[in-house]
Amino acid sequence: MDDRTGTTAYKSDSNTIEIEPSASSLSFEQEQFMKDVQQGLTNSPKSLPCKYFYDQRGSELFEQICQLDEYYITRTELALLNKINTELAQMIGPQATIIEPGAGAGIKIQALLNSLDSPHSYVPMDISKDFLFYSANIIQSKFPDIQIMPIQGDFTHPVEWQGREKHHNRIVFFPGSTIGNFDKQSAIEFLNSMRSLVGSTGALIIGADLLKERYILESAYDDSKGVTAAFNKNILARINSELGGNFNLDNFSHRARLNQREQRIEMHLLSKIEQTVSIGSHRFSFASGESIHTENSHKYTIDSFLQMASAAGFRALKTWTDEDELFSVHYLVQNE
Ligand code: TRP
Repeated sequence: MDDRTGTTAYKSDSNTIEIEPSASSLSFEQEQFMKDVQQGLTNSPKSLPCKYFYDQRGSELFEQICQLDEYYITRTELALLNKINTELAQMIGPQATIIEPGAGAGIKIQALLNSLDSPHSYVPMDISKDFLFYSANIIQSKFPDIQIMPIQGDFTHPVEWQGREKHHNRIVFFPGSTIGNFDKQSAIEFLNSMRSLVGSTGALIIGADLLKERYILESAYDDSKGVTAAFNKNILARINSELGGNFNLDNFSHRARLNQREQRIEMHLLSKIEQTVSIGSHRFSFASGESIHTENSHKYTIDSFLQMASAAGFRALKTWTDEDELFSVHYLVQNE
């Protein structure tokens, strides 16, 4: 069968990676979630891994963040991508396979796919399964000739790529300054693994947010409508519903601060009172004002970003920024 004709190709089992539920009452994924939560809340200072923001509701809240006035990142990057799409298409060439780790709603990729010369396939990856398939479906209906092959999973883990589209020009598309949500060491490791994925013939197109005034940065992560606060607290809601926790969300407040020394925005949940929370049979105590560190969003200068890329074996064929130098997009290829 010609697998490029079916609009539902991505529903075939061979194109998706799913994790089998285990025999216990918690699924394999939830067991891992439980372990990570237990470890994070035992750490001092307390922390939780940011990947757990993204269940269906978290992904929806995140899409709302992208529309906020204060959150300049999405509209700035989209406008920049729209401006350079033709140039990108020329650099990429025909018959490319576009891989997008953490694809989300897939808005940015659509503009790129539109400009490309006969793209061969699109491989969106996302941790949120329903969201991934919902978006893949929409993209497939808009681009019936492109093979869409979603992969559900955590893109920070190595992907089993064997046998997938070996012969095609592989381009990894990683917008949104998601790279900034890794710590420096993991960012370099991630870039390194993307470099081996695209090899000497492909490229990484990556968006990186630029360091700027504190006020602009802090408002972007603490909006007046409270959407970012709800997004941050969603991690506690998930612990309640999936792991049997009893967090009272009203007893925590959202906080976003620029850490100047580390050049990053930090998101925290602060305990408003002294309290004890139970999750299944485990109990965790919080002092009044104690923080759970939930996420970092690193900000770069063009130089600091390219230095990091170079530590992972990449060099920039070209770098673009918007007029106000709020955001940057880089076309990275493997260093000889
Ligand atoms: N990577 C983007 C950023 O750091 C998007 C993002 C991830 C985000 N987590 C977030 C935005 C939490 C707001 C709040 O900006």
